[in-house]
Amino acid sequence: MNEFIQINPEFYKRYSSVDGSKEFWEYMSKPMRQSIRINTLKGDFEDIIETLIESYGNVFEKISWCKEGFFVNGVEISGSSLEHQLGLIFIQEASSMIPPVVLEAEKNSKILDIAAAPGAKTTQIAQYVENDALLVANDVKNERVNILISNLQRCGAIAHVTMCDGRMFRRYPESFDYVLLDAPCSNVGMARKNYKYAKIWSIRDVYALSRLQKQLILAAYETLKSGGTMVYSTCTLDPLENEEVVDHLLSNTNAELEKIDIKSCLRPILKFGEREYSNEIKKCLRIHPQCFDTEGFFVAKIRKP
Ligand SMILES: C[S@@+](CC[C@H](N)C(=O)[O-])C[C@H]1O[C@@H](n2cnc3c(N)ncnc32)[C@H](O)[C@@H]1O
Repeated sequence: MNEFIQINPEFYKRYSSVDGSKEFWEYMSKPMRQSIRINTLKGDFEDIIETLIESYGNVFEKISWCKEGFFVNGVEISGSSLEHQLGLIFIQEASSMIPPVVLEAEKNSKILDIAAAPGAKTTQIAQYVENDALLVANDVKNERVNILISNLQRCGAIAHVTMCDGRMFRRYPESFDYVLLDAPCSNVGMARKNYKYAKIWSIRDVYALSRLQKQLILAAYETLKSGGTMVYSTCTLDPLENEEVVDHLLSNTNAELEKIDIKSCLRPILKFGEREYSNEIKKCLRIHPQCFDTEGFFVAKIRKP
């Protein structure tokens, strides 16, 4: 019997209505494989890979959407390993590597990571611009900002760290060339790694998070310059926190979506119960665990004309 029925029947019911396939629940119950990102701010790509193979054997499998990313098959690299402590690698979920890749931030630009802690994506962006950009990493929670700072240091990533409610950035219109909003969410995609997320899940939280995400996405768009690019992402599968939030942005601004060039095993949801979303939402990326044997994830790439 599916363990999610016992852990949280409401959770099971809701996500069966999002994806009722056998494979979905099979993969939700399957242990996650680990993945890492090579941090080229701390060394040469080939040298780091060689060191890793010497230490762990040939257990690394390329992740198709991120050339610095690898699945680790059969062994587990610990957070206390030398490679991790030295910042040569970042232990990072494979699907969570997509937003910085899709953002395509360029050097000499102004970049805002509005909900940045613990810094997986900030350090990835810093790596892509080779520390040659004005990168602002913000988070609202003090204890998480501390982890963010230590990860930036460990990885040799240069960023200005701020601690405020991301909605505050609406007071700084047209300020950044690139904005990443990796939004606080109900973590349904992570329930595969940790059943705790299914246990504590409630529909009330989903509604509250959806409201917050709509405010954050409007603030993020406001602070984006004309001609700029923004990425909205979550590690959850609820349409109210994904398609609905992007639809809210499209209905209230002149934002345009750009198609993400990764082929998932299913499409974004355009109709959910009574709710219907813009056809444009088709351009977003919805990943369920069975697509690539990863966490569930959602990504939208947005342009400001
Ligand atoms: C999904 S996590 C971000 C993960 C991070 N981007 C990474 O890749 O390591 C969402 C973050 O949003 C932060 N957050 C929650 N509410 C916020 C708000 N109103 N403004 C800014 N950040 C917020 C949380 O503290 C949390 O660290």
